[in-house]
Amino acid sequence: MKSSLGEIRQRDMFLKSITLDQLQAFEAAARHSSFTRAAEELFVTQPTVSMQVKHLTQAIGMPLFEQVGKRVFLTEAGKEVLSTCQEIFKCLERLETTIDDLKGMKQGRLRLAAVTTTKYFIPKLLKPFCELYPGVSVSLEITNHEALLARLNDNLDDLYILSCPPERDDIEATTFLDNPLVAIAPANHPLAKQRNLPLECLAEEPLIVREEGSGTRKVIQKFFERHGISPRINLELGSNEAIHQAVIDGLGLSVISLHTLKFTEVKNQLAILDIEGLPIRCQWQVIYPKKKQLSITATTFLEYLLATSQQFSVDK
Ligand code: PGA
Repeated sequence: MKSSLGEIRQRDMFLKSITLDQLQAFEAAARHSSFTRAAEELFVTQPTVSMQVKHLTQAIGMPLFEQVGKRVFLTEAGKEVLSTCQEIFKCLERLETTIDDLKGMKQGRLRLAAVTTTKYFIPKLLKPFCELYPGVSVSLEITNHEALLARLNDNLDDLYILSCPPERDDIEATTFLDNPLVAIAPANHPLAKQRNLPLECLAEEPLIVREEGSGTRKVIQKFFERHGISPRINLELGSNEAIHQAVIDGLGLSVISLHTLKFTEVKNQLAILDIEGLPIRCQWQVIYPKKKQLSITATTFLEYLLATSQQFSVDK
């Protein structure tokens, strides 16, 4: 059936009035069920997100969200727009990868996401890579284990760096470096001079741990469970540096990645305890969804990582 000129014009107007910025704002707001969090992710203000969604809603001609209490939910039309949005973004991502591959390593983008504890070596490792490939623009998102897995599920990056990835068949994982977790105490702590301490000594001391969602915390919890030990957690802190400082100040002991100590001044004020069963032997891994087609930039970085990362080994 032929469309009338009027219908074609109307469809044309509809398509022309929708912009990628509107789709991006809508997709982020739908994924987070929050305009505020979408604005944070996109580095724009919340009114900007509201305005983009408003214009998209006008172009579609039907409400895309409905508000119940403080939460927003997608309407049927909103769900349709979201799935089309996701297809459009997947197509654009494939296009970007193809274009990057055509340009080779002269130009391109590398999106990395890495857990908090990798910040002691990933930037050092990136420096020579960036010097080798000056045309490649690299973004590095540093976040904790749980937030990194959320990024993986949302397919936001090319490669994800963490230790102890989830056991999933749909993930490709490559190990590249050791990540020993050691028990630390203030340098002048009575346990610091003793050798072959039983693991139970950790249950007798107050323990400082990272926040919920941290990979380090998850590993330690599992380790204690496996050994039937119930630690006395007296403090939760959101950064490894805060843990160093709290241990130095005598607030408790902690179990932490040895990488956090390697290049820090504070290591002279801390002692690594000689405890049976420690260090906990974890490994740094690069992961990505098996279905993902890696760009030349991502493949080149992966090869570079495997070839050069041993210089950052702390496991002597
Ligand atoms: P974290 O993760 O920095 O969130 O503790 C570390 C890890 O994955 O081992």
